[in-house]
Formats: sequence, C-alpha cells, structure tokens
Amino acid sequence: MYLEKIKIRNFRNYCTADVLLAPHINVLYGNNGQGKTNFLEAVSFLTLGSSFRTKRDEELLKREEKGFYLKGEFLDNDESLLLEVGTDLNRLVVKVNGVVYKSKRALFGRVRTVIFTPDDLQIIKGGPEKRREYLDLYLAQAYSGYRKVFLDFYRALYQRNSLLKKFREGFRDFTELEIWTNKVIEEGSRIIYYRLKAVEEISPWINRYHQLMSKEKEDLHGLYICTGEMRPIMDIDCIKEEYKKAIFRRKIEEMRRGYTLVGPHRDDLQLLLNQKWDLRVYGSQGQQRTAALALKLAMVDLIKRTQGVPPLLLLDDVFSEFDNERKKELLRLLTAGTQTIISTTELRDFPNLGSEFKALRVESGVIFD
Ligand SMILES: Nc1ncnc2c1ncn2[C@@H]1O[C@H](COP(=O)(O)OP(=O)(O)OP(=O)(O)O)[C@@H](O)[C@H]1O
Ligand SMILES: [Mg+2]
Repeated sequence: MYLEKIKIRNFRNYCTADVLLAPHINVLYGNNGQGKTNFLEAVSFLTLGSSFRTKRDEELLKREEKGFYLKGEFLDNDESLLLEVGTDLNRLVVKVNGVVYKSKRALFGRVRTVIFTPDDLQIIKGGPEKRREYLDLYLAQAYSGYRKVFLDFYRALYQRNSLLKKFREGFRDFTELEIWTNKVIEEGSRIIYYRLKAVEEISPWINRYHQLMSKEKEDLHGLYICTGEMRPIMDIDCIKEEYKKAIFRRKIEEMRRGYTLVGPHRDDLQLLLNQKWDLRVYGSQGQQRTAALALKLAMVDLIKRTQGVPPLLLLDDVFSEFDNERKKELLRLLTAGTQTIISTTELRDFPNLGSEFKALRVESGVIFD
C-alpha cells in the first residue's frame, strides 16, 4: 500500500496542496521553515490519527482559518484506500473509503507508518516512557492484537490505581482489588509477552543497521527489562505467574503508596553496547543518533515480516547530523520496495537521483513537482 495522492487544505502553513507521490523514494527539499515537517505531519496524521509533534489538534489548523482537511489516496496492486480527516465546526470528521467514523482512531493501522524525526534521540536519551512509547506505537502496527490488549491493560490499571488510592485513605474492598489485580495481570502479561517477542526479533536488526551505519565494531543489542524482579521468560503462563508473584511481593507497599508498582507501564528497553555498556550513558552523540534510526528501521522490518507488506517510511531531516559516510550508507539502505518520504535542506545529499527517486521542492507552504 503506498500513498499516491494527498490533498491538503489549511493545514499548518499549507493553504492548498495537491501532491502526487512516487511509490518509491520521495525527497522533499527546501530551506528551514518552509513546510517540510508539516507535510510529513499531514501524512502521518492521516495514517496514525495523531501528530508526532502535538497532542492538540487545533494547532494543526492554519492560523486564522476555520477548518482543515486532509485526503490521502492509497494504492495497492488492485486495491485502493481513501482516508480523509478534517474539522467541521471544530469537530473532527473522519472517513475511511467514504464511510464516516466517530473517532480518529479509525484511521490507525490501515496504512502502517514508521516515522523518524530528530526528536527521536529522546528514545535513547530520555526516560523509559519514551522507549515504551516507541514499542507501543510500532507493536500496535506489527501485531493485530496488541492495541486492544494495550487499551484493556491501561483501563484495568486505571481502575486498580483508583482503588489503591482509596486503600491509602483507609477504605478496604479486597474482592474488588482482586478483580482488578487479575485483570491487570491478565492483560499486562500479554503486553510483556508481545514486547519480549518483538525485542528478541528486532535486536539483531538493530545491531545490523547500527553497524552498517556507524562502521563501528561495537555490538548494539536491545534488552527488555521487567520491573519488580520478574524473570523475563518467553511463555505467557510463566509471565503470568511471575507477574502475580511480583505484585504479591509489593502488596503492602502498593496499598501504602496508592498505585500499581509493577508491570509493563514501568518496564524499560535497555540498549547495550557490547552486551554491557548502556548506550544512554556511554554512547557518543553520533552513536545515539544512529541507534535511534536503527530502532526505527528495525521496526520497518518487523512490520514487513508480520504484516507481509512494508510500512510507509517518513524520515524527517535524517541527514542533518550525520557525516558523509553515514549518509551514504543510509541511502544504500533505503529500498524502492518501501515507499519513503524524506525531508532535507540539502538536495545535494542525494547525488544519484535515479528513476527510483522523486524530488519535490517546498517553499512557503507550496510544493513544486
Ligand atoms: N498552525 C499553523 N498555521 C500557520 N503556519 C504554521 C502553523 N504551524 C506552523 N506553522 C509554520 O510552519 C513553518 C514551519 O514549517 P516546518 O516545521 O514544516 O518547517 P521545515 O521545512 O520542516 O523547516 P526545518 O528545515 O527548519 O525543519 C513555520 O513558518 C511556522 O510558523
Ligand atoms: Mg522540519
């Protein structure tokens, strides 16, 4: 499935833009502040139902305007898909193949999308929540069951935490606590299982991409870290048992503190150089940037494998901080089989604009073919 055509109305600094894209590699070039990232944001809003820059949809509307509208026409061999989203009297209206949906969640997962932006350095340097967000966004696209389990877990966790808060104030209802504890263990164990499985699978790919791009000898591996001294065993029943024991060990402390102390909402993904040095602490800035990109490219492979089709790949300003060697290697890694939209200020970074590439110039919210 690739994006053939996009229509943009009153979105960020775009007034009207109608753009035809190539099924291969599209290079969006222009000076700073012209609308390159805005364009990628429009594409990802259509396919993920959310922006990678803001949680506030009203920021997406072009200043002084009343409503925005996006339409993407996607093509597969013999299938087509039409995604539309826009505002009407401040309400968001979503359509999939012309059928109206109440929530923008209906857009998610129809065209799988992997995005890399300069902010992704935070996946490496930031707190564990950044790494969990990374896993959750892509596992929800790689495994059909993940999103439901994820939402069910967080609903149960919310209920359990509300109850534990009451426990802290002296209220007691052990029957209700048991109900929510069981639900948290049930759904939480599934999340852990998916994440363990995914990390085991992507870890060699992360290493491969990292080595290809960095030309370094150091290995890079991902390791999923469970909270509460849980042993990470790849078997759903064992995980449930471990989770149950871990929660039991913290029971008194949980009632005192008023929230759930163990589970996937506190887990982490550790990235290790040569099996022992934490990349977050020991990695150079360049290594960390390469690793952030390697994490994303590995997700392209995971989605390809589980879904049988490559996702759409959006690379925002990926070259700005890389040296020439890394740039060249990345260009070699981009394949025509994965539709890619890549933004850059330097078109000369793409020396061999062959037939697989299409260049689009962006200037003040206008795109020139
Ligand atoms: N809601 C909005 N309405 C109108 N203009 C906006 C809106 N949001 C952002 N802009 C404008 O969009 C421009 C930035 O666009 P964008 O972030 O896409 O630039 P860019 O081409 O990616 O630049 P860089 O190379 O610096 O990353 C700025 O001029 C900004 O003022
Ligand atoms: Mg930008």
